[in-house]
Amino acid sequence: MIEHKILMAIIAVYRRIILALVTFFVTLLVIANSLFGRVRMSHENGILLRGKLRIVDNPEFPEHDFFEPGKEFTCRLRHAAASYKDDAKLVVRSASIKFADSRIKSPMDILMNSGEVPLFWDARTFVQFMKVSSKGKGKHYVPYLRAHPQAAYGGGDSVRRNPDSPDQMVYRTKSAFGFRGRDGINRYVRYRLVPDSFDGHESGAPDDWDRNHAWLQNPYRDETRNRNYLKDAIIKDMEDGKVYRYKLQLQLRLPPPNDDVQPEWLSCAVPWDESKFPYQDLAEVEINEALDYEESQMTWFDMSNHPPSLPIPKARSIDDPHSLNHLRLASIWARRARLWSYRLFGMPAKFSDSRDAKDWEGVPPLRNPP
Ligand code: HEM
Repeated sequence: MIEHKILMAIIAVYRRIILALVTFFVTLLVIANSLFGRVRMSHENGILLRGKLRIVDNPEFPEHDFFEPGKEFTCRLRHAAASYKDDAKLVVRSASIKFADSRIKSPMDILMNSGEVPLFWDARTFVQFMKVSSKGKGKHYVPYLRAHPQAAYGGGDSVRRNPDSPDQMVYRTKSAFGFRGRDGINRYVRYRLVPDSFDGHESGAPDDWDRNHAWLQNPYRDETRNRNYLKDAIIKDMEDGKVYRYKLQLQLRLPPPNDDVQPEWLSCAVPWDESKFPYQDLAEVEINEALDYEESQMTWFDMSNHPPSLPIPKARSIDDPHSLNHLRLASIWARRARLWSYRLFGMPAKFSDSRDAKDWEGVPPLRNPP
C-alpha cells in the first residue's frame, strides 16, 4: 500500500515535470515567433472596438463578488480571425472582451472563439497542432486530423466563411474556469457571447463541404470580397451609428465529489448539455466605436486578468484539460515579446486589400478529395 502511494507520488511529480518542460519549450517558440515575426501568435487579423458592458440586474446564477448586479464597465472588444491575414478565408473567428478601456490592465479578460469545440484540447494535442501549423497548415493538417477525428470535427465546427457581421456569430471560451460564489461553493464556469436577439443561425456558418474540409481554407476562387472586407464593414457600421448588441452568458457546473478523478466533461472537446447546465445571462454588451489600428496592436487580452473569485484551475499533466490554461498563462511572455518587437523593429504596416500582395499566404493545396 505504502509502495503504491510512493509510486503514485513519483508518477505525479514526473507528469508535472513533463508539463513544465513542454510549457517552457512551447512558450520559447511562441515568444520567438511573436518577437521576430512582430505578430500575435494567433488571431493577428483583427479589429478593436469599444463600448460598455453591464452586469444584468437580476442574475439567476449564485451571488458573486465580481459580477455585481447592474455594475457597468467601459469595455474593449476585439474581433479577430485565426489565422491568416484575409477576412474571406475559412477561419475561426473570435471575440475577446476586456472589462476595462485600457491596453493591458483590466480586472477581467475573456477570450472566446467561434464553434462549440476546438481543434485541440490539452497540451499534448496543442503541441501536435503547432507542429503541423508550422509546416504550413492546409495539407499538412491532414495527418493530424486523421489521427484525431475529434480535431477534424472541432475544425469544421469552429470555422466561419464570409460572415456579414461579427454580431451575428456565437463565441465560446470552451475551456472551463473556476467560479467561487458568495456561498463559498467552488464551481466550474464556461462563458459565451451571443447576439442579443439570436435566432440560432450564425452568419458564415460552414456548409457541409466546408465543415468536412475545414483545412481547405482559401477564399473561393471567384471571391470578390477583399482581404479586409469584414473590418471595413465594421468600421462603416460604427461610423453610421450602428450598435452591436450581445449577451455575455455563463454556464455553471459543480466539480465532481472526488477531486482526484478528472471527469471527461472538463475537456473543452466536450460541450456541457445545455438542458442540464443552461446558459444564464451575465451581462449586456453594447459596442459603438471602432478604435484605430495602432490601438488594436498595442492592446492585449490575457486570461491572467481575473479576480481571485474566478480562478484558473491548475493542471497536473500534459493530458490534463487544464494544461491548455497552463500554456496560455505562460504565453503572457509572447504578448510582451510582441510589444517589444514594435519598439525594436517598428509597428508592422496594415496589410493591403489585395491577394497579389507579398504577404498573402495561400493554403497548401491538396488532391481533391485528399
Ligand atoms: C481553448 C483554447 C484557446 C482559446 C479559446 C484561445 C483564444 C484566443 C483568442 C480569442 C485570441 C485573440 C486575442 C486578441 O484578439 O488579441 C488568442 C490569442 C493568443 N493565444 Fe490563444 N486561445 C486558446 C489556446 C491557446 C494556447 C494553448 C496558447 C498557447 C501558447 C495560446 C496563446 C495565444 C497567444 C500567444 C495569442 C496572441 C496574444 C497576443 O500577442 O496578444 N492560446 N487566443
